Amino acid sequence: MDKKTVYSGIQPSGSLTLGNYLGALKNFIGLQDEYNCLYCIVDMHAITVAQDPKLLRKNTLDVLALYLAAGLDPEKSIIYIQSHVPQHAELGWILNTISSIGQLQRMTQFKDKSKKSKEVMAGILNYPVLMAADILLYQTSYVPVGEDQKQHVELTRDLAQRFNSKYSDTFTMPDILTPKSGARIMSLQNPEAKMSKSDSDENSYILLLDDEDATRRKIKRAVTDSLNSMAYKDDQPGLKNLINIYSSFTGESVENIVSKYEGQGYGVFKADLGDVIVEGLRPLRESFKEIRSDKSYLEKVYKEGADKASYLANKTLRKVYKKMGFIPR
Ligand code: AMP
Ligand code: TRP
Repeated sequence: MDKKTVYSGIQPSGSLTLGNYLGALKNFIGLQDEYNCLYCIVDMHAITVAQDPKLLRKNTLDVLALYLAAGLDPEKSIIYIQSHVPQHAELGWILNTISSIGQLQRMTQFKDKSKKSKEVMAGILNYPVLMAADILLYQTSYVPVGEDQKQHVELTRDLAQRFNSKYSDTFTMPDILTPKSGARIMSLQNPEAKMSKSDSDENSYILLLDDEDATRRKIKRAVTDSLNSMAYKDDQPGLKNLINIYSSFTGESVENIVSKYEGQGYGVFKADLGDVIVEGLRPLRESFKEIRSDKSYLEKVYKEGADKASYLANKTLRKVYKKMGFIPR
């Protein structure tokens, strides 16, 4: 039987955080042998908020190098940059014609982002439709992402369903794939909010490219509580988040971690967690430097990736155009 397809993407809008890693990137690696995987750097999504062109160029190559440093293998997976494959924008437009504005306005991320800006651009509203196009172009079965993307994958399913029932079976129905622990890593300073690279407080996140001292320091400063009791409970959200991070790196169960540190105070646990993260990220941090400085290798990877992705995307798009009544050239 043919292998099923896995698809995911990360925006090159700033440096990646531990949340991006544990919620998404880390899980991409293990899927490469069992599935046909496509991993995209979604630059066209990143421009839904203002970007400095120079910085966007840098961040795009940073994310590509992080993909490779984390263990994505261009021999196994298709790794590419979204704007190199124009079919994404084309299918995005088609799907916009069957998307309900009301449904898009109900997306949590839209509500959050539009609250923060004075003038709300149409791209912010339509962005989940472009994400649906990314996924549907490749007949994707599984989408490994963090929990914050759940609503967008549901929208993708709605759009696939709507198109399929109007024009006959065309798109595969995708399912979300979230990790057991790490699907929602919270801010180290405010455990009610998700860890995000756009947070103004840099103690709230750990960047994959932070150095070891900063990593340890940020964990030491992470907000916990005054109960001073090692437990995994909703009313100790800061500690719960740290235990999740520990468990994501080591694979140890939450129960094990709690009993290991019971009665020891948070300081010991935090110091160990700092080590766990530093050790867990060391191989990635080391190979990043080497890969990032090899411009011609990076170029080779994204060019070959774009060729392979375009071929697949075109197959789907041709079918879509034909079914809708566009005249083939
Ligand atoms: P983004 O940076 O928004 O492009 O997100 C890239 C991937 O990282 C998506 O799969 C997100 O769901 C995931 N992600 C982002 N922040 C977090 C977080 N705090 N916890 C878990 N996953 C996250
Ligand atoms: N919207 C996702 C995010 O903000 C990124 C993304 C764009 C994506 N296209 C995708 C994720 C397709 C999975 C599949 O994190």
